[in-house]
This record gives sequence, structure tokens and C-alpha cells, in this order.
Amino acid sequence: MFEHLKEQPADKILALMGEYRADPRKEKIDLGVGVYRNAEGVTPVMRAVKEAERRIVADQETKAYTGMAGDPAFSDAMIGLVLGEAVPRDRIAAVATPGGTGAIRQSLELIRLASADARVWLSNPTWPNHPSIINYLGIPSKTYRYFDEATRDVDFAGMIEDLGALAEGDVVLLHGCCHNPTGANLTAPQWEEVIALMKAKGAIPLVDIAYQGFGDGLDEDAQATRRVAAAFDECLIAASCSKNFGIYRERTGILMAISRDAEQQKVTQGTLNFLNRQNFSFPPDHGARVVTTILNDPELRADWEAELEETRNGMLALRQQLADELKRLTNSDRFEFLAKHRGMFSRIGASPDQVAAMREADGIYMVGDSRMNIAGLNSETVPKLAAAIVKAGV
Ligand code: LMR
Repeated sequence: MFEHLKEQPADKILALMGEYRADPRKEKIDLGVGVYRNAEGVTPVMRAVKEAERRIVADQETKAYTGMAGDPAFSDAMIGLVLGEAVPRDRIAAVATPGGTGAIRQSLELIRLASADARVWLSNPTWPNHPSIINYLGIPSKTYRYFDEATRDVDFAGMIEDLGALAEGDVVLLHGCCHNPTGANLTAPQWEEVIALMKAKGAIPLVDIAYQGFGDGLDEDAQATRRVAAAFDECLIAASCSKNFGIYRERTGILMAISRDAEQQKVTQGTLNFLNRQNFSFPPDHGARVVTTILNDPELRADWEAELEETRNGMLALRQQLADELKRLTNSDRFEFLAKHRGMFSRIGASPDQVAAMREADGIYMVGDSRMNIAGLNSETVPKLAAAIVKAGV
């Protein structure tokens, strides 16, 4: 039967990881996959994670199954981190998932089960795995304009115009903060306008929040998600712990589904449990246990927040350094957007040819759509990148 299999399209982010590894040049710079790296190029295990793991190894007495939704303490801790007090707890169903991608996958399965006709609207551009999973599941989708290639800011007029075509029951996938791949984000008043429009149309939000703490701060980055969650009767939120806890390979995420009331929540929770059982049964536990240990211990939590803040400030400093260097080299303000963008990524607006030229001539690896991972830089590589950007004619 396997002779009937066809080659699947390569994920462009993962393909780039392979190309980077195969490049023998010592001075190559990896600005591809969204993994944080410090100035030495290392993705460190965070201090609080190390300590939580030490405690878990010392104290854990069983590896027996948890529950189909994962450990309820993980759900409670994550609901607190992402939603705060925005929504009454008895309206929220939640399941632990294998990473944020698992949460996205389960949210789409839930949508498909609840409403076969619902279309899912995606920002153009978005994280490539969003449309990939949606197409794989056979869910109808649409796109809305999001990025203005000229200003490298949000094309808000275009977004509002496109979302004007929403039908009742459509789902809009929104990036809660730190938009991937552009780095351009809605302002608070713009969020309010999007919420009002979606409510008027009877649309349902699906918020993907994978970079909480990488933009302006843990609470600041959750504000839009909390506003959305509080505004709608029904809402889906997929959150990842990969980046802000630095536990990428532990596959730790959560799907929260907000129902209109506590009665409906019970059915939604049961359906989420059912979907977990169908797809992978019990969700992974180790990363979730690490996260719960950190969030519920005041000392560990304070240390985690402090390290996350150092990480965030480091990325902001790199953004500013790159914007300043490009200002110096070009004698213009046209790269000012780099300091304004938030999160791990910025789309710099280079053409595919310019991206290829930077890779060939200078060993700089960014995704073909010119998304670059700011955390792949350090203060020594910033001037090299700036020079390469100018040389490529961006
Ligand atoms: C990225 O966008 O680079 C990350 O979310 C990693 C991935 O799985 O694509």
C-alpha cells in the first residue's frame, strides 16, 4: 500500500533548519525556526525549569496515568496565567495537549465536530502550519489581509474590510500577541474594533497565544486574549508553553474552550476529553508538571518571571540595535519598524531573491518570506546582518 503514498510538501521552516545544519560555513547565522537562543547561541534550560525538574524527580512516586484532560492543576495554573480573572472558571473547559500545535489541532477538530460548515479565517500571512492543518482536516478557510508590505505594520483597513465578509458561525484565528511571522500587532483600540465587528457578525474567536511574555510582559501580552475571552459567549484559546518556559521538546500546551454557560461547559469538556482520547489518549505530563510546579511556587515563579524578562529585554535590545544600525547605514528611518515589532519575529520585507542572496553570500538563514528570528542574533552579528540587508538592496 505504501507505493500509493506521495511526497508531502515540506514545511518551509523545518526545511530551512536542515539547510542551515548542512552549511559548513562557521560564520553562518540562523534566523530561522522560532527557538530562543542567548548571546552564546544556546537555548538554555531555564533556572526555574531545572529546579522544578529536580523536585519532580526527587518527589514523584508514580508515573501512572493522570486524566484524559491532563492534571487539573495544570489547567488551573495555565488558565490563571493566560486568562487571569477574565472569564468565570465554570465556563472554561480545558485539556492539556502535546504543545501549542496540539492545542491548535484539537481546537480545529472541535470546530469541525461542532459545525461542519464553519469557515476558519486566517491572517495573511500566518504561521504556515495553520493552513496546513486546516487543509489536512478538510476545513473550509478564508484569509484576511493583515500585513502592509510597505509600512511593515498591520494593514488594519484591509483587515476590517475583509472581516466584513464574515458569516455567522465563522471562526477567526487571531494571534494573541507577537504575531508570527510578521511581528506587527494590533493596538488596544484596534482589538476593540475587531471584537465589535466579529460580535456584530456572530463570529467566534480562536486565539493562538504561543509567545506570552516575549512582547511587552506576561500580563501585557495576555491583555488582548483576556479582552477577547471576556467579550464573547464562545471562544477558543490555544496556548503554548514551549517558548516562555523554554520546554520546546516536552510538548506542553493547553486548549481552553469557553462556553456560554456552566451547563454547556460540561458537554464541551467531555468533547475535548473525547478528542484527546481519539488522537493520543492521555496528554504528555512532564512539561505540564514542570509548568504547574513553577506557577504554584512563589519563589520559582518569581525566578521564572525574572529570567523571562531578561530574555524579553535582550530581544528588545537587539531589535533596537538592528534598527539603529540600519538607520546609520541607510541614513533613513525605513527600518524603524524593527524596534516597534514585538516577539521573536520580524518580517523585514525582503523578496525571496534577496533572502536567497543573503543566504548564499553571507550565510544568513531567514524564512523565504523574510521572517527572521531576532533571538538568533547577538550584539556581534547584528552589524553583519544590517550590512547584508543593505547589500541585498532590501
Ligand atoms: C516557528 O514558527 O518557527 C515555531 O513555531 C516552530 C514551528 O514549529 O514552526
